[in-house]
Amino acid sequence: MAPPTIAIIAAGAMGSPIAKILATSGVTVLTNLDGRSETTRRRARDAGMVDVPWSDIALRASCILSIVPPAEAGNLATRYLESRSAVRTHATKVPQPIFVDCNAVGPTTVQEIASKFDGSDVRFADGCIIGFPPSHDSSPTFYFAANAPDVSALKELENLGQYGLKLATLTGDGAGVGDASALKMSYGGILKGITGLFTTMVLAANASSSATTTALLNELAISQPSLLQRSTQTIPDMFPKAYRWVDEMREISTFVSGPMGDVHRGLASVFEIVEKSVNGDGNARQVLEKFVKDAEAVLKDTQ
Ligand SMILES: *[C@@H]1O[C@H](CO)[C@@H](O)[C@H](O)[C@H]1NC(C)=O
Repeated sequence: MAPPTIAIIAAGAMGSPIAKILATSGVTVLTNLDGRSETTRRRARDAGMVDVPWSDIALRASCILSIVPPAEAGNLATRYLESRSAVRTHATKVPQPIFVDCNAVGPTTVQEIASKFDGSDVRFADGCIIGFPPSHDSSPTFYFAANAPDVSALKELENLGQYGLKLATLTGDGAGVGDASALKMSYGGILKGITGLFTTMVLAANASSSATTTALLNELAISQPSLLQRSTQTIPDMFPKAYRWVDEMREISTFVSGPMGDVHRGLASVFEIVEKSVNGDGNARQVLEKFVKDAEAVLKDTQ
């Protein structure tokens, strides 16, 4: 079977390297660069993406991967559906394309996006990407889920695995649209949550006294060295992302819902405090940086 023609929107920090993997394996990767910056155009060119009008995407792409900031996810789906209905009478070449929302939106939002596709000739899959953008030594995993009428789409999406993407599908009892998004929320809620919890207790220990912070650090080094080691990476990595994590934690708390949702609502406040200190308001960042520096020294001594 000849490699497929697909579309990736947009040619961003995640979309472009994904496109490059597919294009290198012979897949034709279309995109649309209307109104995009020169930097984005160059990135798309380097990735082997082909800039075409929306009508071409609607006519030629058997699969559309939507990889955009969460707030743009709904508009992108609408934009594509408009183009598809405009070319519908000519659209026999790809009879039932698959639109995959790969964005970090919650299950409720993705279900709303999916409902836009009701009555169209486009199949819908819920997707998520877990991991960092592909680099020479690692590659993220795509997860897909679809509602019963569109499960045929999952089989076709699995074919993209032949062209270098790491894929997994969510199947079995009750699997459907919303589940890939729920997976992303659950995974992110654990990893970012651990960092948030660690941050909370270091700041609380510091507020008690610096003797508490030092004793906490020494005890962790003795009894939980791998946890402490991990925090020396994850805490500094979190500083530049804290502003983004505030909203993500709120989104996760909505997903968790009920009293348990308070956990991540609380963590949103923690990241807000960190974000403020990154911008010069408060000293949380200094406290955490000192903790990390001391932890590195203690861990080195105890090795
Ligand atoms: C850390 O402790 C110091 C000394 O008690 C205090 O002045 C500072 O406000 C504390 N920082 C945070 C972020 O709690």
